[in-house]
Amino acid sequence: MMQLRDPRAFAARKLLSGLLAQDCCSYIDFVGGGIMTTKEFFEQMDARIAKYDLLCHPFYKAWSAGELTREDLQAYGRNYFHQVAEFPDFLQEFGARVHDEQLRRAVLVNREDELGKDVEGSRPHAELWLDFVEGMGGDRGTDHIPVKEIGELTGWFHSVAREGTPEEALAAFYAYESQVPRVSAEKAKGLREMYGADEKTCEYFTVHTTADVYHSRIWKHQLGKIVQGNPAAAKKALNAGENAAKVLWKALDGIEAARVKKVA
Ligand SMILES: [Fe+2]
Repeated sequence: MMQLRDPRAFAARKLLSGLLAQDCCSYIDFVGGGIMTTKEFFEQMDARIAKYDLLCHPFYKAWSAGELTREDLQAYGRNYFHQVAEFPDFLQEFGARVHDEQLRRAVLVNREDELGKDVEGSRPHAELWLDFVEGMGGDRGTDHIPVKEIGELTGWFHSVAREGTPEEALAAFYAYESQVPRVSAEKAKGLREMYGADEKTCEYFTVHTTADVYHSRIWKHQLGKIVQGNPAAAKKALNAGENAAKVLWKALDGIEAARVKKVA
């Protein structure tokens, strides 16, 4: 199995053992609004993200059902490339503002993963993404102008990374990367079984069925430390997590609308 051999999984596990202490079950005391444990906080966070569960989006449902054409997948790949390629920039923008040493290290390691610098032989995730586009018959050009919803998505992430509070930025990264493993597994399965994709074409998704499990756990741990005993931060994080999930959903709306328009 690819996941077991992937050196990135080992690197991420090693990092995880250093950055994660045991999950806490401490309290967030909402003044006049009761007490919430960090476990309950994350249950709320996951529920708010689940309102925009990407696997329920019509575009991904069509992907899983084998209803997309190779041209649809190329168009998706060219559009979504911008989010994939700019993710290391979001991390850089946030990491440059972080004072907490452990958190800064976590952000940096995640960025190195994205840039393929974590393990010898790794490649930037944006390059793996272009393998997917190419595997679907597209070219590796990166000057494509995306649908406006993709611009809104990357703009929102740049904004939270540059200007958001640490809890807002972490919640945004968590909302994104906590969904990636499940979505990636489903996409890789669809690509192999219904769109004739080879392993190279699927590698971005294969890598992300494991890599972002560790990344999202790290965000979760760091976020838990910030919101513990800090209800104002908890509220901000919950709102940011939901907003991130919403803007990710809307990006797919834009891609789906362009596809439907083309078919009509
Ligand atoms: Fe990635």
